[in-house]
Amino acid sequence: MDIIVIGSGGREHTLVWKLAQSSIVNKIYAVPGNPGMKNIAECVTDIDIENNDVIVAFAKKKNIDMVVIGPEVPLINGIVDDLENAGIAAFGPSREAAQLEGSKTFSKNIMKKYNIPTAKYETFTDADSAKEYIKKEGIPIVVKADGLAAGKGVIVADTMQQALDAVDEIMCDKAFGDAGNSIVIEECLIGEEASVLAFTDGDTIIPMISSQDHKRALDGDEGPNTGGMGTYAPAPVVTDSVMDFVQTKILEPIIAAMKTEGKKYKGCLYAGLMITPTGPKVIEFNARFGDPETQVVIPLLQSDLAEIMLSCIKGTLKGKKINWSNKAAVCVVLASGGYPHKYKKGITIKGLDKVAADKTLVFHAGTKEMEGEIVTNGGRVLGVVSIGNDIKEAIANAYKDIKTISFTDMYYRKDIGQKALKYL
Ligand code: AMP
Ligand code: GLY
Repeated sequence: MDIIVIGSGGREHTLVWKLAQSSIVNKIYAVPGNPGMKNIAECVTDIDIENNDVIVAFAKKKNIDMVVIGPEVPLINGIVDDLENAGIAAFGPSREAAQLEGSKTFSKNIMKKYNIPTAKYETFTDADSAKEYIKKEGIPIVVKADGLAAGKGVIVADTMQQALDAVDEIMCDKAFGDAGNSIVIEECLIGEEASVLAFTDGDTIIPMISSQDHKRALDGDEGPNTGGMGTYAPAPVVTDSVMDFVQTKILEPIIAAMKTEGKKYKGCLYAGLMITPTGPKVIEFNARFGDPETQVVIPLLQSDLAEIMLSCIKGTLKGKKINWSNKAAVCVVLASGGYPHKYKKGITIKGLDKVAADKTLVFHAGTKEMEGEIVTNGGRVLGVVSIGNDIKEAIANAYKDIKTISFTDMYYRKDIGQKALKYL
């Protein structure tokens, strides 16, 4: 098969890396891709991934057998619908099904209707009623912009003032643009977070191994929220019985619900969970692979990823055996100084060629090639991934290998994976 992978981050580098190992994949085009993929894919940088017509035309021209969509925006733009209408197989949910990520109101309403455990909530389209509700419920409370806000439209308020200010910020100041036309106010869940990604063909859903992200910028979960500063897999907080609950009370019911609602969901479903004292609850669904969860989950996948994706597309996932390594993986994100706020770009990255390639994977995220050198080009620059026999070994390997890489103002968290150690 000749395939296209859409996206340019660490998640897409990981998918391309794994798909390149498939016995049924011949050629990979990465649109637009990044310099880390250069040896395994042809990067096509002159296509706007938010222009469906251009993507469909390119796929037709190259006689593409399957398109894999990384980021959420093309999914919500209906790229899968447009590719399928043109007769091209696409891995990912349709425009309507992607509303599970695209609209928090849609997602919360469907969970409520089908009894899928999630935080108690109300939706508002005017600031006054939202504030009244907050005053009635008390703190801590969570205030969310309804639409897509690149992971930033969520305020976990510990004080009443913070909560009320958040409403003004989202609804009156429009800090997240139209994403704030409506607002979701939620009960604050207490517990440890975990991510469970799953493959689905719309009828059958098969979870991948669990993982845990580190969303805050600084050690000890301090500092501002980011896109994710590191991950590990599997996450021991997701015990067998937790996974069983997630499968039977969350994943299977949501897939059945989407089908009943006429919005059959295919592709990868990402469940962001809080493991509370009364059981797992859904914080959010995403319509795509997680980033940087993919960087630790996919390297532990032993089965052929392209074959699994085809099964999801064709509706033949039922009974499919998916094999996982029993090792552990850790990803530490190397970020630009200043991220998630302002940071510099174009800084030369040193030592990439010195990383022990047999043990460590370096997935590019925000990099660019300039005059034959790899330079920084984003906030999250690289994901350094190590595999170990257990989580402790994986952590040690990752931090050892990071020492060979450097760029001016590089920073990273020193405590990725520490939460897993308490379960050993
Ligand atoms: P989201 O963009 O919905 O993933 O939210 C970003 C982060 O805010 C999550 O990873 C959680 O850490 C936190 N969060 C969101 N909703 C809640 C909630 N209901 N209770 C506690 N924390 C939450
Ligand atoms: N790691 C968080 C996300 O992919 O949304």
